[in-house]
This record gives sequence, structure tokens and C-alpha cells, in this order.
Amino acid sequence: MAQINPSILSADFARLAQEAERVHGADWLHVDVMDNHFVPNLTLGVPIVESLARATDIPLDCHLMIEQPDRWAPQYVEAGAGSVTFHVEAAAAPVRLAREIRAKGARASMALRPATPIEPYEDLLPELDMVLIMTVEPGFGGQAFLDIMLPKIRRTRELISKHGLELWLQVDGGVAPATIERCAEAGADVFVAGSAVYGAADPAEAVRALRAQADA
Ligand code: DX5
Ligand code: ZN
Repeated sequence: MAQINPSILSADFARLAQEAERVHGADWLHVDVMDNHFVPNLTLGVPIVESLARATDIPLDCHLMIEQPDRWAPQYVEAGAGSVTFHVEAAAAPVRLAREIRAKGARASMALRPATPIEPYEDLLPELDMVLIMTVEPGFGGQAFLDIMLPKIRRTRELISKHGLELWLQVDGGVAPATIERCAEAGADVFVAGSAVYGAADPAEAVRALRAQADA
């Protein structure tokens, strides 16, 4: 079954515990960590993740859009994240980092910006629990879905199957009722949605509706 991960980037940062409650039934809560270096925006860090992990039963899916993930990612596992995604463009030693995230007890995930191809990283797949294909340039919520990423989603799914792996394939950026079916058809099974969930009158219902669409 498809997993739907609402992004709290589109939530009210002053009320994160209540915002988590508004998406009850979501599979994971997607937490966008931005450092104003890897992307031109600044959000939140380890202390807020630590508090949020205590405040909600929904497991946290931390997406690190930061420089030096080798140094920081393990701290997000210690803060309570159940899944930690680093950008391969920023990682100095992605294999060592994925192993460290797993050894500390979280799922390890690698993200690719739109201009980063999957092929050079084929051999890393067995070290990972998830690959994140960005379907917008990372940095902001509410951007238009990049259709040109669909072939990369498809190729990544093919590589995962070729190696007989159980990896999850996540898409993030512009995922909405108008785009989620194309992502699912291309092979994605974990869907991040920010504005499409928190912009809805009933965010929990939006999560259910997106999941039903992806599973159709
Ligand atoms: C963008 C973030 C996304 C963002 C998605 O850099 O990684 O997680 O919150 O927002 P929407 O779903 O509105 O495109
Ligand atoms: Zn994200």
C-alpha cells in the first residue's frame, strides 16, 4: 500500500504538535531540514525534531537539505527520527553515512536533486532503505511538479527490481491529486505532500484520498 507523508513545511511551525494531530492516519511525518546553504531557505534543526518526536506517535521522516550531512545525520537519529534522508550531492561518504544511520537504528535514505542522475549510484542501493527522487528543486513548498522527473522514477524502480531489493521509492515536490497517479504508475510508493495536505480543509481526509488515488 502507498505511504503518504505530509510535509510540515506547509504546517504552522508554532503549533507542530497540533499540526501532527491534524494528519492522523499519515504513515510518516515529513520534516524538511534546511540550512540556507544547500538550499536557499532555513527551517529547523535537531532540538525541534527532538521535541516533535516526543509530541507525536507518527514516525518522523527527516529530509536533510543541508551541507555536511555526514556530520549531522546521526544526530537526527538520536533526536528520534525513524528515517533519515541525506542528499548524495552533499555527502562526503554516502556508504559510511548510510551504515551509520542504520547502525543507530533508523532507515537510511538517499535523495537526488532534479539534475542528479541515479545511474552513478546504482551500486549503493543495497546500503539503503529508500531513495528520494526530488520532483521540484528543493527549498520551498508549493512548487509545480516536474514531469521531466518521471523517467528517473521509472529507471530507479527498474534498478531496485533488477537488484531484487525491497527499497522504498519516495517522491517529494508538487505531489497532489493531479500528479500522484503518474508518480505511482512510474514506480513510486512513498509520497510526500505538503501544500496538497495542509492546504486542504480536512488534512487527514486529504491523506486518505491521496493514498486511495496512489493505490488505484
Ligand atoms: C521541498 C521540500 C518538500 C516540500 C514539498 O524542498 O523537500 O518536502 O515540503 O511541498 P509541496 O508538497 O507543497 O510541493
Ligand atoms: Zn522534503
